[in-house]
Amino acid sequence: MSKQVLITGGAGFIGSHLADELLRSGYRVRVLDNLCSQVHGPDAKVPSYLSKDVQFIYGDVRDKDCLKYALEGVDAVYHFAAAVGVGQSMYQIQRYTEINNIGTATLLECLVGRNIEKLVVASSMSVYGEGLYESTNGGCSENVERCSEQLKNAQWDPVDNTGCILKALPTPETKKPSLTSLYALSKYDQERMCLMLGRAYSIPVVALRFFNVYGSRQALSNPYTGVMAIFASRLLNSKSPVIFEDGNQSRDFVSVKDVASACSLVLKSDIKDKVLNIGTGKRITINEVAQMLMDVLGKNDVEPHISAKFRAGDIRHCFSDISLAKNVLGYRPKVDIKQGIIEMSEWLEGQIAIDNIEKANAELVERGLWS
Ligand code: UD1
Repeated sequence: MSKQVLITGGAGFIGSHLADELLRSGYRVRVLDNLCSQVHGPDAKVPSYLSKDVQFIYGDVRDKDCLKYALEGVDAVYHFAAAVGVGQSMYQIQRYTEINNIGTATLLECLVGRNIEKLVVASSMSVYGEGLYESTNGGCSENVERCSEQLKNAQWDPVDNTGCILKALPTPETKKPSLTSLYALSKYDQERMCLMLGRAYSIPVVALRFFNVYGSRQALSNPYTGVMAIFASRLLNSKSPVIFEDGNQSRDFVSVKDVASACSLVLKSDIKDKVLNIGTGKRITINEVAQMLMDVLGKNDVEPHISAKFRAGDIRHCFSDISLAKNVLGYRPKVDIKQGIIEMSEWLEGQIAIDNIEKANAELVERGLWS
């Protein structure tokens, strides 16, 4: 019989794409998801995009009985259930800690004593804080930060002590973590807990640090999600994307299809006890992303609004070094950003996006987290 896989949070954006990928590869897929209203809307319905071949269990990762039931006969687990807003994590401290940290702790207690071939945990590039930079003497700077004084003066780029702008480099897994949000802290905790307990109980664990994932099924009406979905939601409502800082900050946007294929490669490989970056290895600025989306959606009549405002905990540049995932997994990202945005726009055509971003930004302003 084919192997049985459980995906916690599998009704979400990344998990549902992974479910499709695993079904195509012949696995049996079970999903445990609590259909949280921020992502799935107030009706908490199983999303129509979730494959009918998935066995769906409604439940929460903090519920031990539910987890035990979901784990019956399971060979491998992808732990994707998490609360995922960086800004929101800075005030919903208890909620994020409960879902991300306690949820993972509960899962680990339930996994002990079971014969699990692989546990894959979703981590995040957020654990790096700022990415790696080249120092002015040609070496690498691991602990770059922007001080509040320079941000107040709209000096957005990290500088050395003589005021020279530092050059961003690809960030490898070996870069020391620098945790600037509760979300990042919880993701780091999740990966450390899984790796530590995995070693102690001989559960092969792999933590994947996802970079900025985009694509179809991203919750458009969730203002705490990634910038691509937020901009798409604004544009579908013929409103300007609000660009923070000057828009020249850069990220590594990776298609959810490439992410799903990386996740599935982990199951087919015999690697364990590893942390891997999953990105594209390429950087793109937020201004470029906004422009590409406007071009593809035919919304060139809308001007992006460059707000010159700064979100607490935001970083300037981070893009991945994916050498390790290439070497140990044979991972090769295939979707270039233009093609990925075109694919996303085909899905956007049938979507209704409720634009909640102004409310979400107002919440940050009220708490002094956006200025
Ligand atoms: C953060 C996390 C990442 C997480 C992602 C989605 C960090 C370093 N990374 O990424 O792990 O997966 O959130 O929760 O904490 N921006 C705008 N206008 C907007 C929204 C965002 O200009 O309306 C800018 C931000 O200032 C940032 C960039 O777009 O410079 C990307 O923001 P976002 O999509 O929230 O992701 P990250 O902060 O990179």
